Amino acid sequence: MNEIQSNNCCESTNLSKLEQIESVIELYKAKPSNLIQILHASQQIYGYLPLEIQEFIASKMKMAVSEISGVVSFYSFFSTKPRGEHTILICMGTACYVRGGKKLVDELQKQLSIEIGDTTEDGKFTLEIARCIGACGLAPAMMIDKTVYKSVNPNKLKSILAKY
Ligand code: FES
Repeated sequence: MNEIQSNNCCESTNLSKLEQIESVIELYKAKPSNLIQILHASQQIYGYLPLEIQEFIASKMKMAVSEISGVVSFYSFFSTKPRGEHTILICMGTACYVRGGKKLVDELQKQLSIEIGDTTEDGKFTLEIARCIGACGLAPAMMIDKTVYKSVNPNKLKSILAKY
């Protein structure tokens, strides 16, 4: 019984998200150049842009799904997979790379049991790579959401993650 109620709840939540996306499309669809804004807003509403959402947008905009998918895959800020509550960005810019950024990536992949671009099973963390996060002087650096961690070594990672 509880399960059915929770499914109904999720279905209606998804329905209301689709309605919100539809309103955004109605607002912006007059200009095809507004597609990026529509995708941004849709990602904010739905959390990510899976194929079914891309198909929904394509049908409402009377565009081919391949056009939508092309834009989604071109820009790194769009995601086709669910995102975690927190995003970990490991810097792999030159300064960080030469000072051990790769070791941080390896250690985080091990600790979280995920690959780059993936989200942990509990939905807590998404692991991503950045090119430079503006802390080159104190490399290697990483960022969790908006907090920058400088001079990180793999031994510090457990205690950093524990804060979340
Ligand atoms: S290269 Fe890593 S912060 Fe700039």
